[in-house]
Amino acid sequence: VTVHIPRDSAALAAGADAVATALQQACAARGHALNLVRNGSRGLFWLEPLVEVSTPQGRIAYGPVAPEDIPGLLDAGLLTGGLDAQGDVIAHPLRHGVTEQIPFLALQERLTFRRMGVTDPLSLDDYAAHEGWAGLKRAIQDLALDRDALLHEVTHSGLRGRGGAAFPAGIKWKTVALAQAVQKYVVCNADEGDSGTYSDRMTMEGDPYMLIEGMTIAALTVGATRGYIYIRSEYPHAVATMTEAIARATAAGFLGDDVLGSGRAVHLEVRMAAGAYVCGEETAMLESIEGKRGIVRAKPPLPALQGLFGQPTVINNVITFASVPVILARGAPFYRDYGVGRSHGTLPFQLAGNIRHGGLVEKAFGLTLRELVFGFGGGTRSGRPVKAIQVGGPLGAYVPEAQWDVPLDYEAYAAIGAVVGHGGVVVHDDTADLQALARYAMEFCALESCGKCTPCRIGSTRGVEVIDRITRAQGEKKTQQVELLRDLCDTMISGSLCAMGGMTPYPVLSALNHWPQDFGLTDAAPA
Ligand code: NAI
Ligand code: SF4
Repeated sequence: VTVHIPRDSAALAAGADAVATALQQACAARGHALNLVRNGSRGLFWLEPLVEVSTPQGRIAYGPVAPEDIPGLLDAGLLTGGLDAQGDVIAHPLRHGVTEQIPFLALQERLTFRRMGVTDPLSLDDYAAHEGWAGLKRAIQDLALDRDALLHEVTHSGLRGRGGAAFPAGIKWKTVALAQAVQKYVVCNADEGDSGTYSDRMTMEGDPYMLIEGMTIAALTVGATRGYIYIRSEYPHAVATMTEAIARATAAGFLGDDVLGSGRAVHLEVRMAAGAYVCGEETAMLESIEGKRGIVRAKPPLPALQGLFGQPTVINNVITFASVPVILARGAPFYRDYGVGRSHGTLPFQLAGNIRHGGLVEKAFGLTLRELVFGFGGGTRSGRPVKAIQVGGPLGAYVPEAQWDVPLDYEAYAAIGAVVGHGGVVVHDDTADLQALARYAMEFCALESCGKCTPCRIGSTRGVEVIDRITRAQGEKKTQQVELLRDLCDTMISGSLCAMGGMTPYPVLSALNHWPQDFGLTDAAPA
C-alpha cells in the first residue's frame, strides 16, 4: 500500500515526521507492507499532517493526523482507504474522502502547483511522468532555442513578475537578451519575506525541478550560463531540497555543460541569505550575493543591463520562473486565457493569519477577497467577524469589507490604493487594533530599513512617534498630528529609494482611512 505523508516545512511543523514514524512502526508491528512516500504539501495546511492512501478511486485523505491516531486509523481500515471487505466506507472523523474532491482543492485552478503534493519532490522519474521538462524540451526541440520565439512565448503569455511588482517578464527577459555582454546571469529571488507567504517555499520544497526548468529556459533564452537561487536562511529545508535537486538534475543532463544535448551550458547554485527583509529588494540581493552588505543600489542602471557583478541579469521571483514551464509546454495562449484585464494567468494566493482553512489557493486573477477568505478560507479561526485583511505582505494595505468584492487583479487593486503583491492574505478579526498595526508597520520599516535614504531611515522612526502622539493627543492637536502623519507618508512614498520606505505608508494610510475610530478619531480625517 502506498501512503503519502508530506515532508515540507508546513507539514513538519505540524508533526509529520512523528506521524510517519508512528505509521511505520505500527505497520511493522502488525505485519502490514507499507510504501511510504514523502511528498510535498498539497497546501491544505489545516489538515496537516495529511496522510493520503492510494486507492483505485484516487488518494484518500486523512487529517490532521496525530501519532496517537494511527492505531485507531489502522483499525478503521486506513490502508484500504477506509473501505471494508464489502467496499463500504468505514466512517472516521479524520477521513475526508478523495483528496482531489475536497472543495478547497477541487475549486482551484492549479497550473503552476498542479504537481504539488502529488509527486515525490526529488524524484526525476516522477517529475518527468507529470509533464516535467515538457517546456524545456519544447524550447530546445520544437523552438530550436530561437531567442525571438522563446521571448514571444513568454511575452505573449502575459506573465508578470510574481514577487509583487508585476513587471512583464517578457520585457525584462528581452532587455537582458538584447544586452551585449560576455557573461549574463539569471537570479531567482527566493528571499520570500512577506508576512503570510509561503508559495516560494512550497515550490522549492515540493516541486524543485519546476523552478530549475523555468530558470534553465530563462537562461537559454537570454544567453546566460550561470544562475543563482537566493534563498532566505529561514528556509533550511528549501535550501537542502534545492541543492539536492540541482545535483540530481545536473547528473541527469538537465543542467550542466550541455543541457539536454543542446550544446548550451547552464549552471545553477544556491546562495543562502542572512535574514534581512530588505535583501529581497533586488539590488540589495545582488549586493548580498556578491558578498557585500545588503544595501539598496540606486536604479538606473537596471539589473537587466547591469546586475550581478555588473552584468546583464534576469531577476525573477520563484513563482515567475516556476510559471514558465507550463507556459512553454502548453503554449502562451493557454496561460493567457486565465485571468482578467492585464492580469493574465493564475496566482497562488496564500491564506494566513486568523483563518479557519489556512493554505494555498491557486486561482486565476479576478476572484474576490470575499470568495478567497470566506469561500476557501471558511472565515476566521476564532469564529469572530473579520475586520481587516492585509493583502500583499507587510507593505500592503489593510482592505476593509467595502472592498472585499473588488476583483483581485493588479490594476483594480492599484485603483483602490492597495496591492496584490506576492499574493499573501492575512486575516484579522474584530479584536484587531488598526492603530497598533499601523504603528507596527512603521516599527517594522525602522527595523528593516537599509538606511540608505532619509525618508525611510528617519521617517519610519518619526512615524512611530507621530502615531503614538495621535493616540495621546486630543482635539485640534490630534488633527495636527494626523496631518503630520499624512505629510510624512507622502514624503516616504515619493522620496524613498525602494519599496521598503515607499510602501510602508500603504498599511498606515489604509488603517487611518478605513478605521479612524481605532486612532480615536470619529470620522476619517481628510486625506
Ligand atoms: P519595480 O517596479 O521597481 O521593478 C520591478 C522589476 O522590473 C524589477 O526587477 C526591475 O528591475 C524591473 N524593471 C523595471 N523597469 C524595467 C525596464 N524598463 N526594463 C527591464 N526591467 C525593468 O519594483 P521592485 O522594487 O523590484 O519590487 C517592489 C515590489 O516587491 C512591491 O510591489 C512588493 O509587492 C514586492 N515585495 C515582495 C516581497 C516578497 O516577499 N515577495 C517582499 C517585499 C516587497
Ligand atoms: Fe534603504 Fe529604506 Fe531607502 Fe529602501 S527606502 S533604500 S530600505 S533606506
